[in-house]
Amino acid sequence: MNDTESASTVLVVFGASGDLMSRKIVPALLLLHRRGLLPARFRVVGFSRREWDDERLRRHVAEIMADQGMGVSAEEADAFLSLFAYQRGTFEDAGAYSSLAELLAGMDESWGVCSSKLFYLAVPPENYRTIFDRLAASGLTSPCSDDEGWTRVLVEKPFGKDAETARELDAVLGTLFREEQVYRIDHYLAKEMLQGVLNFRFINNLFESAWGSQAIERIDIFLHETLGVEARGAFYNGVGALRDVGQNHLLQMLALVTMEQPGSMGSASIREARARLLRALRKPTYEEVAATSYRAQYDGYLDIEGVEPDSDTETYFRLGLSIDDARWRGVPISIESGKRMGRARKEIVVTFRHPRPCLCSDSVHRQNRVVFALEPTESIRIDFWAKKPGLSQELEERSFDFFLYEREERAQYVEEYAKLLLDGISGDQTLFVSTDEVASMWETIDPVLDAWERGAAPLERYAPDEPGVSERAAASVAGRVSERHVGVVGLGKMGTGIARNLRESGWHVVGYNRSGERTKALVAEGIEGAYSLRELARALPAPRIVWVMVPAGDAT
Ligand code: BG6
Repeated sequence: MNDTESASTVLVVFGASGDLMSRKIVPALLLLHRRGLLPARFRVVGFSRREWDDERLRRHVAEIMADQGMGVSAEEADAFLSLFAYQRGTFEDAGAYSSLAELLAGMDESWGVCSSKLFYLAVPPENYRTIFDRLAASGLTSPCSDDEGWTRVLVEKPFGKDAETARELDAVLGTLFREEQVYRIDHYLAKEMLQGVLNFRFINNLFESAWGSQAIERIDIFLHETLGVEARGAFYNGVGALRDVGQNHLLQMLALVTMEQPGSMGSASIREARARLLRALRKPTYEEVAATSYRAQYDGYLDIEGVEPDSDTETYFRLGLSIDDARWRGVPISIESGKRMGRARKEIVVTFRHPRPCLCSDSVHRQNRVVFALEPTESIRIDFWAKKPGLSQELEERSFDFFLYEREERAQYVEEYAKLLLDGISGDQTLFVSTDEVASMWETIDPVLDAWERGAAPLERYAPDEPGVSERAAASVAGRVSERHVGVVGLGKMGTGIARNLRESGWHVVGYNRSGERTKALVAEGIEGAYSLRELARALPAPRIVWVMVPAGDAT
């Protein structure tokens, strides 16, 4: 942290009487306060329309601490509560912003410095423009000078509901703030284990050279929750699982596990490497969505307050994706998430190919896996095969476990938000999502939402707290996908046309041609290249379908 810059900071929370303040902001600030990590001079100003004053806001904060059972001593509570001040006003009321400016100027005066300002928009995005316009008019968004009193803005997802609305939102943010000032929160980036993925891959030299299609067969990412939609029916119903956690958390997990090595571990390099990977995600066609996705809703969802009685919003989904770049082309990826799944399972599973030739009996040998687990334990696990001790040659599966934590109970969001607030204060954007990332994530998800709207994946049902839906989805997708692998031998004019057509209709096409040049050219279009007939045979699941498009003759 740059001490001089962050030594005097005011956090202004718009929407201070709302849900985000209770669930995320107050618990995270208390954690930072306890650990002595807040800046030396620090205040929180709550802004809301309620007829409150400083004392009433402090009472509200004290109630939040009590509700969350945060075990705070009287002395600690006094010190923490004294950080809070209140500014009443509606988001439209220009006068309230002038009063806010006076309040902040008073704090600066008492400190004898020009403090830095962090504006946290804990409000729905519809209010952003009004708030920014009023802030700008009151002069609050301008720093005191080039090197004193920065201003930054923290915003929460949803970053729009599709690519177009995300662009509109960015236009609003961009009118007043440069990219370096905008901190878009995706709390998954702040999860300890996910921060660890980059270190595991790039600081060690153990796996990185095997990290790609040559050695890795598939990647599966899970975000299974025990929680249901709870009291968020009205919000969730217009959103669904794919928009709620797929477009953001799951794609970010995918980016971390598949991105290229960044130029450095600095914020700009890491954000750019994530963005480059997200840009390379293939935009799925209708046929691909129909072949690789599954949607379901848990029984009882329709009875939740705020949910429309005939809603077909998904509370579970599974979706197949692929990355169109040299490292990952041809590697199937699945992302899946569900609420009320009975068991929390939040992990990235990287499955390696069988060794070729495999000197093991195929009936017992399974594949190596690297698993980055976030819940129920935070751990990295490497599954491998070893000889069973004893006189026989039998193999058994064993694993190396790197175990971070096991938690009996986890307070949702607290540690992640503490890290994010701290980084917002110190000006480190690594764990925040850039404009480019948001755009690419929507460009991948929009075609899926569109295909679903056109009926590509009929809504299935599942019993709440019953994890079987995940297996049913996997089996259903596997059934559909295995029918859709094909090899094309001979990539002349006709062979190329056939390969392209099949690819565009959602088939996984493996192409072989006598001269490798033509094959290479098609690889850029999403066709998997084989450079020998043996390779072609290996790349296709049995029973194999191969279209032979070569002239009659001896070679054929
Ligand atoms: C949020 C979603 O972004 O992430 C919630 O809106 C979801 O619906 C939550 O429950 C999951 O976060 P975590 O940290 O509990 O895995």
